[in-house]
Amino acid sequence: MSQYLSDLEAIGREAGMLLMGYFGRVTIEYKGEVDLVTEADRASEKLIVERLRARWPEHGIVAEEGTRSETEAEYRWYVDPLDGTTNFAHGYPVFCVSIALTRHDGQLEAGVLYDPTRDEMFAAERGQGATLNGRAIQVSKTTALAESILGTGFPSHKRHKNPNIFFYHQLTLRSHGVRRAGSAALDLANVSCGRYDGFWEFNLNPWDTAAGVLLVQEAGGTVTRFDGGPFRLDSREVLASNGLIHQELISQFEQIFAGRGLEELPSVADYAKTRS
Ligand code: IPD
Ligand code: CA
Ligand code: CA
Repeated sequence: MSQYLSDLEAIGREAGMLLMGYFGRVTIEYKGEVDLVTEADRASEKLIVERLRARWPEHGIVAEEGTRSETEAEYRWYVDPLDGTTNFAHGYPVFCVSIALTRHDGQLEAGVLYDPTRDEMFAAERGQGATLNGRAIQVSKTTALAESILGTGFPSHKRHKNPNIFFYHQLTLRSHGVRRAGSAALDLANVSCGRYDGFWEFNLNPWDTAAGVLLVQEAGGTVTRFDGGPFRLDSREVLASNGLIHQELISQFEQIFAGRGLEELPSVADYAKTRS
């Protein structure tokens, strides 16, 4: 195992255990209308940042709850101390810790993503493959969108301006279904180990995607923008898949954006008349 991953796994595990100590007994605070934060988000960030600074003092850090340091450094960490805060705050056990290292603010070098509720440690390093609890993982082998299971997510920020419900509707009718589990980082991890065949979301931040994107790439999958263009951490759109259904997904996005071939939504008023 590389210089990074053994230390990173230890830090991710420690932060995950800290989160479990708060789970089921946190007070919800608000960053926005429905953008939640808890004491646990801040405590986890503090722990991770302290550990990263002690081990790699020269590296920059960008973490969701406010840490910004050495932002001109060659190496930069992106930290989501608790991805899935809304789930966590409501006692729904789908959340994780996500930590990733980038170089020259773009190239993904290493990442870990730890789900303390299932004791699952996902890890990846550029060119070295991806693992789940130490065993190599690969994306699924599903070849057709119609036989796939997908994931997506909806933002808590500016949610009135997000068009994703239309994509959710269309892709639900063209696949085995679309899950909306509430942790984008875990959704990407689920693509990397073959539980999902694909995932997309609008407007994610680098700390949501960095570790998960590297996991998918290292597990043999593909990550792009919705039009197939290269994914970057500041892309604000992410489309990840096992690679085999990627072209089909890109075609679907093109069609939906163009308003072609859409399945009609049933009229609620018409349906109401059929109720006895
Ligand atoms: C959120 C989760 C969610 C996604 C949101 C993210 P947070 O991150 O990843 O699944 O739909 O867009 O903001 O706030 O729980 O760290
Ligand atoms: Ca997040
Ligand atoms: Ca978070």
